[in-house]
Amino acid sequence: MGLRTFVFVVVLLGFVLSFLEFCNGGITSSFVRSVNYSLDMPLDADVFRVPPGYNAPQQVHITQGDHVGKGVIITWITPDEPGSSTVIYWAENSDLKNYATGTVLKYKYFDYTSGYIHHCTITDLEFDTKYYYEIGTGNATRHFQFVTPPEVGPDVPYTFGLIGDLGQTYDSNRTLTHYELNPTKGHTVLFVGDLSYADDYPFHDNNRWDTWERFIERNAAYQPWIWTAGNHEIDFAPALGEPIPFKPFSYRFHVPYRASGSTSPFWYSIKRASAYVIVMSSYSAFGKYTPQYKWLKNEFPKVNRTETPWLIIIMHCPMYNSYVHHFMEGETMRVMYEKWFVEYKVDAVFAGHVHAYERSERVSNIRYNIVNGLCMPISDQSAPVYITIGDGGNLEGLATSMTEPQPSYSAFREASFGHGILDIKNRTHAYFGWHRNQDGYAVEADSLWLLNRFWKQSERASS
Ligand SMILES: *[C@@H]1O[C@H](CO)[C@@H](O)[C@H](O)[C@H]1NC(C)=O
Ligand SMILES: *[C@@H]1O[C@H](CO)[C@@H](O)[C@H](O)[C@H]1NC(C)=O
Ligand SMILES: *[C@@H]1O[C@H](CO)[C@@H](O)[C@H](O)[C@H]1NC(C)=O
Ligand SMILES: *[C@@H]1O[C@H](CO)[C@@H](O)[C@H](O)[C@H]1NC(C)=O
Ligand SMILES: *[C@@H]1O[C@H](CO)[C@@H](O)[C@H](O)[C@H]1NC(C)=O
Ligand SMILES: [Fe+2]
Repeated sequence: MGLRTFVFVVVLLGFVLSFLEFCNGGITSSFVRSVNYSLDMPLDADVFRVPPGYNAPQQVHITQGDHVGKGVIITWITPDEPGSSTVIYWAENSDLKNYATGTVLKYKYFDYTSGYIHHCTITDLEFDTKYYYEIGTGNATRHFQFVTPPEVGPDVPYTFGLIGDLGQTYDSNRTLTHYELNPTKGHTVLFVGDLSYADDYPFHDNNRWDTWERFIERNAAYQPWIWTAGNHEIDFAPALGEPIPFKPFSYRFHVPYRASGSTSPFWYSIKRASAYVIVMSSYSAFGKYTPQYKWLKNEFPKVNRTETPWLIIIMHCPMYNSYVHHFMEGETMRVMYEKWFVEYKVDAVFAGHVHAYERSERVSNIRYNIVNGLCMPISDQSAPVYITIGDGGNLEGLATSMTEPQPSYSAFREASFGHGILDIKNRTHAYFGWHRNQDGYAVEADSLWLLNRFWKQSERASS
């Protein structure tokens, strides 16, 4: 039979099988949120306030600066003149002041000119230590602090926050506040892409990048945010004379990609405590023979689960999604990489993009070879759990419409704003909780004990 006929038969068979699998579907929460779209906070909102003092550093944020967590990249912007690129830092209980000097960059985007963007990498810090740091000069000097992670090791507890598609609406502010006031304190944010949504403004108004970075400073200057590039970071606008993808993002957010042998800031890895986190790029070439493909192929065998039991992947576009919004957009990447996720027993894959929450069963769909008709996801205990956490609260609103019936791969889904907490206890146990903005700070609307794929097998959800 012809290929088209064959594909048709396969698709038809798929429908029949999926009807047979109705009864296996997961939970769609009955909660229905207001359809009102959230507005971006106005330019004079308190969260966007410019710090006082001439040329005072603003938009301060930090990220991991090396492969193991002894380094930090500190980024800030001075608005009026370059000023100093030096960071003065010292360990708590130490009088010894250290100096590190970074670089300063500036870019234009259409009719916008950025301030002076400083990136300073500090290395060789002590593990598990509180550091104070100071930037800026004179009466515009500003002070912050952060805590380095414990030394990499298999049973080191560590807590990550999961935030995606944040934007800068009143809901975004609620999400960040809920993360900050969550009684389970996150030490580092794994950010799954789509940051400021400046590109939703006429001419991609880059002033909305500045407001966004001032907004997140209250958290991101004190704990690292691990960056993933989303589609709202592409800023590809040839009609505006801006044909270079990821331009504002690349100037504003530096990541330690070279430390993991990557050749691009859009895909890289870090170790942090007992976790090995791989950041992938949904919007960079990822087909066979591409740089991202080659890097990832070499990367998986490097992960030593005796050293870092938890293998976590973050990316923007989900591979398993059952909302109508962005349905099947992750298919191309799934076809390329899902077999590696199963082979290397990835524990969890976190993505954003869909402005809602969803958690999958442990499933895989890697048997299909175009002639065998085996094209349905099946339960697979070597597969990751896929969690969509694109519910940060940006101005595009919630993705409320879901594919019906709920597919069997989808364990739980709800269109509410919120954030996630991944609380790693030891090499075998980690607890994931989803926190909604409409609930109290401690409330979990969905949760799961994750049993490590390398060290344990069966697990059970408690939602
Ligand atoms: C949308 O917001 C307006 C103003 O706050 C309110 O009056 C209206 O009831 C809301 N609509 C829904 C469907 O919640
Ligand atoms: C801060 O320093 C600037 C320049 O040195 C000076 O003009 C200004 O008066 C100072 N402001 C305060 C509050 O001390
Ligand atoms: C944002 O949240 C913070 C902390 O809850 C609050 O102090 C601030 O007033 C909020 N700003 C806006 C514009 O909602
Ligand atoms: C994996 O890590 C453990 C613990 O750090 C170490 O003893 C072992 O040699 C490592 N294995 C490899 C192949 O590097
Ligand atoms: C790992 O953590 C879980 C959950 O807190 C606990 O039940 C288990 O006993 C711990 N395992 C070890 C070896 O401590
Ligand atoms: Fe997105």
